[in-house]
Amino acid sequence: MNLTYSTKLSAIPRDIVCLDDYQRHAKLHLAEAIYEYIASGAGDDITMRRNQLRFQDIALYSRVLKDFDGASTGIHLLGRDYPTPIILAPIAYQRLVHPDGEKATALAADAMSTPMVTSTLASIPMNEITERNNAGNWFQLYMQSNPQNTATLIRRAEHAGYDAIVVTVDAAVSGLRNRPQRAGFSLPGEISAVNCQGFETETLTLSGGDSPVLHGIMAQAPQWRDIEWLRQQTQLPLIVKGISHPDDALQARAIGADAVVVSNHGGRTLDTLPASIDTLAAIRAAVGAEFPLLLDSGVRRGTDIVKALALGANAVMIGRPQIFALAVAGALGVAHMLRLLREELEIAMALSGCANIAAINANCLHTTERPATC
Ligand SMILES: Cc1cc2nc3c(=O)[nH]c(=O)nc-3n(C[C@H](O)[C@H](O)[C@H](O)COP(=O)(O)O)c2cc1C
Repeated sequence: MNLTYSTKLSAIPRDIVCLDDYQRHAKLHLAEAIYEYIASGAGDDITMRRNQLRFQDIALYSRVLKDFDGASTGIHLLGRDYPTPIILAPIAYQRLVHPDGEKATALAADAMSTPMVTSTLASIPMNEITERNNAGNWFQLYMQSNPQNTATLIRRAEHAGYDAIVVTVDAAVSGLRNRPQRAGFSLPGEISAVNCQGFETETLTLSGGDSPVLHGIMAQAPQWRDIEWLRQQTQLPLIVKGISHPDDALQARAIGADAVVVSNHGGRTLDTLPASIDTLAAIRAAVGAEFPLLLDSGVRRGTDIVKALALGANAVMIGRPQIFALAVAGALGVAHMLRLLREELEIAMALSGCANIAAINANCLHTTERPATC
């Protein structure tokens, strides 16, 4: 596939007033195949759609006349203070949508004091990202089939100044990507996972063999014992991303993970999984009140953040909106997207009577259960 960039905007169009507006504009800026690669979920997009719909099904209470003296959106997470509970999720190959790719996202993260997670599949050298962002850099790790390559990535990340390793465990095999397949998506020659350069090419294929997935790909896929091994490889905080079952969260905690990201990969892995928000409360109940939990998949509004925090998340990660904003207006777009979300969070907190993040809890949520006397 050939890559051409549309001219990026240097001012934000007036009709972009919320995160979903960036998706509408990005569609105009991107080649159809690239748009489909980003915008789609797995299979029939059922989980992807559900991720957002289920947030809409949750109702908030309005609480009035509260004292907002000293109000704050600040959080303390993994030993560090952050100004909001908003983090940029790892998104691969950002040069697909902007010539500066992850470098532009890093500038926006820095400007908006927002931590950024750099993908193993970043299209920019990882140190060029940490050089531009002082707001917190986490490195997302895909375990490599050769452990030496995994160790090399960790050493490179430590050397480049990353603060944490986020190991993604829910994509052992790529989900069915029917929409990008129909649109003829393939990675353009000039875009690659530059931080994996020098690693032998993995010859995993879906053709040939009786069971190419179960005996081919899954034979090399990481297992819990590999995550235990990973835990021994670094002193950095280890965050396990892609958990949707309480037992998996417990196992991650048991092997020494410092946090878990409750996530279904934005609906891009196993279609018909539950919405990420619907899996959160049970995971919080299993791991207890103190264990750090992040949530992603479907977060588009400040009210979504309040709901995620009320159901037990300590912070949320934002996926597609960052890449759509990057496609429309580069670093300016990503910074603007983050500002919109932060303002929405503040409004949602003000109107639900929560002066700080600690005040957000299950009492903020309206349930439809009626008292027994009704
Ligand atoms: C185009 C695209 C590329 C992604 N690349 C990665 C990746 O390299 N590593 C990873 O752990 N997750 C990756 N994800 C998943 C995101 O980190 C995140 O879990 C998901 O986008 C959250 O859902 P949302 O898009 O609804 O916010 C990617 C998602 C998209 C849309």
